[in-house]
Amino acid sequence: MENGSIGWAPPAQGWIGTASCASAACHGADGPQGTKGCEYSTWKESDPHSRAYDALFSERSLRMARVLWPDEKTPEPWKKSECLACHTSFESAKEHADSAKSPDGTSPNPQYGVGCESCHGPARDWIGVHTTNEWQALSPTEKERLGFRNLTQPLARAETCVRCHTGSPNQEVNHDLIAAGHPRLFFNLVGFSESPPTMGDKSYRGKWHWLSRRNPIAGSEESRGIKLAREWAVGEVVAAIASLDLLNHRLNAADKPSSNWPELAEFNCYACHHDLSEHNGMERTTVTIPKASAPSKPVVGRLAWGAWSFATIPSIAEASGLDAEKIRISLETLRRLIPGNDEDRRAAMKVVTTLKQYLQSDLLPAVEMQSINTTWLNSVRGSLIAEAKSSAPSSTWDQAAAWYIAFVVLDRLQQDLLGNEGRRMASSVPSGLLFPKGFDSPRGFSPKMLADFLKTVENTNP
Ligand code: HEC
Ligand code: HEC
Ligand code: HEC
Ligand code: HEC
Repeated sequence: MENGSIGWAPPAQGWIGTASCASAACHGADGPQGTKGCEYSTWKESDPHSRAYDALFSERSLRMARVLWPDEKTPEPWKKSECLACHTSFESAKEHADSAKSPDGTSPNPQYGVGCESCHGPARDWIGVHTTNEWQALSPTEKERLGFRNLTQPLARAETCVRCHTGSPNQEVNHDLIAAGHPRLFFNLVGFSESPPTMGDKSYRGKWHWLSRRNPIAGSEESRGIKLAREWAVGEVVAAIASLDLLNHRLNAADKPSSNWPELAEFNCYACHHDLSEHNGMERTTVTIPKASAPSKPVVGRLAWGAWSFATIPSIAEASGLDAEKIRISLETLRRLIPGNDEDRRAAMKVVTTLKQYLQSDLLPAVEMQSINTTWLNSVRGSLIAEAKSSAPSSTWDQAAAWYIAFVVLDRLQQDLLGNEGRRMASSVPSGLLFPKGFDSPRGFSPKMLADFLKTVENTNP
């Protein structure tokens, strides 16, 4: 990862491989999925990360590879650093990138997916001690010194996921990959940590190996609603900073002849694509793609930049007593500058640097320390509702989806804080937010749908 980027970049040394955690006496017991001792078994059977390397052998990956590397007769995605960066753990990528199949010849094999050490840290220096009594006596900092990551902290969790799920300077899913058939990345920590994995089959519900550990022990800890709210707020801020890192990298690289600037993955997909059907093929509305050489002009609202990553950030800042207006102004300035000419691009880089600094040095620590209580709840929710109302009529699906997730989390918090008086939102997702069957785009979304939904949220205020 580039200097100063947020997110955890695993060290190159110290990997011992997922098989080292798999024995029945350690994490490979075959009890119920998600229970203690069954982490490996749960990962292998129901965690998409164990299939991440296999996915590179799929028909979809092969189709993508033919589009991306048209000059190669039989391009092999499982050998491409552009794919291995996120679809395998570091050690298997390094060691096996030049082999034709999975390293043991039995392609494909879960061992080479995104394994335990990709999140918990390379284990060479802690595997021995972590099975002894001595381990319990070590502080989180001492464990960290051995390379073990304290994933009970929302910040550490968020920093783990973003390099692959938001992307980072050396790991990107750009519009070239998406147009070739890669799913668009839209990460949110709370949703991705909670919802059981479907492995692409919506009728199937797997389990995360970590789910049963996320319930607080009675009386001794913060309530679940409070934990979720903090995880949501921290996750949003970390993902926003990670997307600024990626934007900064892209803006910097735009001078190179090989550059693809403007990078279309930075903008609202559905401004250009209304009917994105699954995996390939769609109708396209006529759009003018902003060219780097074009004269600077105001952007059409619909082509908004950053709608997914920044929709909730000003409200989170406001509720922590920070300068939300400063953030709003920076975001507006970026929306205007980003599709512009070279001069605009250089100006945008300065705004990105200042905004990132503010989010990282001021907002992130404030959100980590924030007391999550009724005052905070009312403040964030009030601010989100105002933000959403003022975005009409040009609000986008990305914003509406990010706000919806926020309201669900806040509703859960309200139940915890107010007990039975906490009024609940309807449990079903508003249909306009869903992608209809067979489509990779939200054809049913309209700003009117958002306005109707906001009315129901306002009615859940105590
Ligand atoms: C920045 C990290 C990143 C890079 C680089 C990347 N991917 Fe992915 N890929 C992901 C993530 C994350 C998902 C899951 C997306 C989701 O559903 O949110 C995914 C999903 C997929 C899927 C669909 C899931 C499945 O099991 O079928 C395929 C296929 C795929 N990637 C292939 C590729 C190929 C081929 C390349 C290289 C050309 C590549 N990826 C590069 C992160 C990445
Ligand atoms: C995608 C990232 C990821 C991968 C891959 C992963 N883990 Fe985890 N693991 C987590 C997270 C996140 C938590 C829970 C943190 C929390 O909410 O407290 C966790 C929790 C755990 C815990 C419980 C720790 C505790 O505090 O009680 C164990 C044990 C564990 N993982 C083992 C494994 C093993 C073994 C593997 C490989 C088979 C693995 N993990 C793969 C992210 C991961
Ligand atoms: C080393 C890269 C990497 C890291 C780190 C990582 N993931 Fe993933 N994740 C992937 C890839 C690749 C896929 C797609 C696997 C597939 O379906 O083939 C994926 C899939 C997922 C999916 C399923 C998405 C879908 O639409 O089906 C969820 C949810 C997810 N990851 C959550 C997390 C969380 C939470 C963390 C952090 C605790 C995390 N991931 C860390 C690479 C990573
Ligand atoms: C400024 C307009 C614009 C934006 C924004 C944009 N695209 Fe595209 N997209 C295009 C154009 C033009 C093409 C055809 C050229 C190409 O393949 O790059 C295309 C091609 C595609 C294709 C391939 C379709 C096919 O029939 O081959 C997919 C899939 C796609 N885009 C998805 C997305 C997603 C998802 C996003 C948001 C992350 C996005 N696009 C953002 C203009 C845009």
